[in-house]
Amino acid sequence: MQNQENMSSPYCLELIGIGKSFHGLRAVDDVNLKVKSGQRVAIIGPNGAGKTTLFNMISGEFPPSDGKVLLFGEDVTELPNYKRVYKGLSRTYQITTLFPEFSVIENVILGLEGTRKTKYQFFRSLKKQTSLFAEAEELLKRVNLAEKKDELIKNLSYGDQRLVELTLAMASKPKIICLDEPNAGLSAAESRVMIDAIKNLGPEITVLLIEHDIDLVFEVAEYIMVLQDGKVVASDEKEAIRNNRRVQQIYLGEEADDDAPAV
Ligand SMILES: Nc1ncnc2c1ncn2[C@@H]1O[C@H](COP(=O)(O)OP(=O)(O)OP(=O)(O)O)[C@@H](O)[C@H]1O
Ligand SMILES: [Mg+2]
Repeated sequence: MQNQENMSSPYCLELIGIGKSFHGLRAVDDVNLKVKSGQRVAIIGPNGAGKTTLFNMISGEFPPSDGKVLLFGEDVTELPNYKRVYKGLSRTYQITTLFPEFSVIENVILGLEGTRKTKYQFFRSLKKQTSLFAEAEELLKRVNLAEKKDELIKNLSYGDQRLVELTLAMASKPKIICLDEPNAGLSAAESRVMIDAIKNLGPEITVLLIEHDIDLVFEVAEYIMVLQDGKVVASDEKEAIRNNRRVQQIYLGEEADDDAPAV
């Protein structure tokens, strides 16, 4: 019966009353969210609002102090990160996690290796090595980095490094991808490339995005959740958030018109 319920869940991800305390600090408090397959969801809010902590609980970096995380209807609250990857969840980090002394393609191959259930084999067959190489090259083509495959990561621009990270997150063929500030530190031109790469991810992939760049948020997201001090301030379709007086006051720093109707 439980399995039948799981199979019929209309949501790929559900957060049910999740919270996290760090030594008395309530970093995330009673967050509820239901995400449909293919949806683009942005999580926004000021520094320290709890956005990355929320991602850490979604991806299984650590379990929540309260509440539940459901993936495709299945309770994964206690499941570690790597097992959630096998179930179709992938993420990028706020801080770069690449190997700077390795080439672009070596980083992607290592990423592909890391998503395999089979253990690393040093003396793998040439055929398997060739197919890994081809797979890595294919992933790099999608973000127009195939020509830079032999460059060392440390010699790439920061924008290209962030694109390699996006490629790595795609290596596990995820159904849900969580991007933590993909645009942070990018120039306007790099930012444009990143936005297009995210928009090109395809409708079969659900995207959760943490971002301070409000232009990116409104261009990419259909649904937006606003956090402040760990709590949900608003959670709604993009247009409703755009017109939400409280969000304008708290997040966008705009003067609110007290006579305007609250959304
Ligand atoms: N591992 C941890 N141990 C203790 N406190 C933590 C830990 N991780 C986060 N915090 C605290 O929890 C709160 C929320 O932090 P979090 O990193 O989730 O915010 P954020 O919304 O991602 O902020 P930013 O926009 O600056 O990245 C902050 O007060 C932070 O100092
Ligand atoms: Mg953060």
